Amino acid sequence: MLKNQNMESIKKGRVFIKTYGCQMNFYDSGLIEDGLLKKGFNNASSLDDADIVILNTCSVRDHADHKIVSEIGRLKGDKKIVLTGCFAKQIKLKREKGIDIHNAGIPIDYCFAPDEILSIPDILANDFEKNYNGDISNRRHKTTTATKDDYQNFNLVEEYFYNKNVNNSFATIKIIEGCNNFCSYCIVPFVRGKERSIPFSIIYNSAKRYADKGVRELLLLGQNVNSYLSPDDDKKDFSYMLESLAKIDGIKKIKFLTSHPKDFNDKLIELICKNDKISKGIHLPVQSGSDKILSAMNRGYTRRDYLNLVEKLRKGYPDAAFSTDIIVGFPTETEEDFNMTLSLIDEVGFDFLFGFKYSPRPFTKAFEIKDDVPLEKKKERLEAVFEKQKKIFNSILNSLKGKRVNATILAVDKEKNSIEFEKGILFKGCGLNDRMIYIVNNNKDIYKNLRIGDERQVEITYVKNNRLYGEVLK
Ligand code: 5AD
Ligand code: SF4
Repeated sequence: MLKNQNMESIKKGRVFIKTYGCQMNFYDSGLIEDGLLKKGFNNASSLDDADIVILNTCSVRDHADHKIVSEIGRLKGDKKIVLTGCFAKQIKLKREKGIDIHNAGIPIDYCFAPDEILSIPDILANDFEKNYNGDISNRRHKTTTATKDDYQNFNLVEEYFYNKNVNNSFATIKIIEGCNNFCSYCIVPFVRGKERSIPFSIIYNSAKRYADKGVRELLLLGQNVNSYLSPDDDKKDFSYMLESLAKIDGIKKIKFLTSHPKDFNDKLIELICKNDKISKGIHLPVQSGSDKILSAMNRGYTRRDYLNLVEKLRKGYPDAAFSTDIIVGFPTETEEDFNMTLSLIDEVGFDFLFGFKYSPRPFTKAFEIKDDVPLEKKKERLEAVFEKQKKIFNSILNSLKGKRVNATILAVDKEKNSIEFEKGILFKGCGLNDRMIYIVNNNKDIYKNLRIGDERQVEITYVKNNRLYGEVLK
């Protein structure tokens, strides 16, 4: 029995969306939520309180799969369970291929691949009106639904993107779905499908609408943003996109995630370095510092290519800040290979990195190679990566003391017990390379005139707990 009193919501139900994994999934969950609210569903306040639970899942490592299966096991009461995201697609693929899976019997009502998410609101709304009519206890074990690729339905994409709920100064736009790279360890091309760029006009017009609603910063999202090419015009590539969006009135900064080192051309490097609306905080996954491993991973570049790219970007913009992804323990990785990764981390000097232990994934090429680096070794190597990174980041930050940077003023949430809170710090500043500086002027009068969005010169005065602190110069 549903707890809602309102007739409309009794029919439609309350929804709780739980999201796992990467920013793509969080973005997709936002689209699903927008669509469901428009159809008359309500947000549930918690998982327990929901009539419909949507699990937007990840599958990039084995650990992610296990988390989802146990989450489903914990769900109580009569609920419709909707599985979507990469793990949902993995289940679909395994069923299609007749592969027996340990989780084949998990009790889900719907299973949508990542490219079917835009159909979820329609399908649920139909079913809730016609089939359940308020009684959701009649579980149907319906596990497959849409078969179309929603990203080929440009009218649908346009509707979702234009009407996206944006209510602060920051908005994300997905510009490309899927991936064609087939890195040998990665399940993404299988579960998210081949690359499909969203037409330029949809992205551009969405960005304009968001800017009119007060958005100042855009994050362009995709598995491989720098291979973007508008499906209707092959002159509209990623550089064209960045340059065009940067011209929109009101847009102050554009970030992008994730770019592939092999798809960086000189035109893009030059644009990033010279255009002061494009973020210079660049996430550039390297994965390994060993040429042997990079080749086995099918990454399409060498260690030297990667270092040259970083060098070119730094030459064009010396204050560029880099971050990366590293996998340790890829099959056949020797101590020597691993030391090449450590030395690359040293050579580049990343601001931060995400490190992972290699995890064999179904369908991938590496799945067929023996996972021959023992777990203990992987753990040890990952620890060594994090240890090195901590030291490097600390020395990068310390080298910035005394520097003056042009920063945009942002607000700080006052977290109780934080050093900022104790000091009464209310503002932080953010330079073009996205490094945060907490503002600690002794002269408190300066705060009176500080407004969010102001551009101010900030001098970095000290570093504590891996954070930069600085004073606004009048
Ligand atoms: N094992 C470990 N890490 C992986 N990644 C992708 N696939 C795997 C895998 N099978 C990491 C890569 C990628 C990031 C998103 O996840 O570093 O850049
Ligand atoms: Fe996976 Fe490689 Fe595509 Fe990134 S570029 S999503 S690591 S296949």
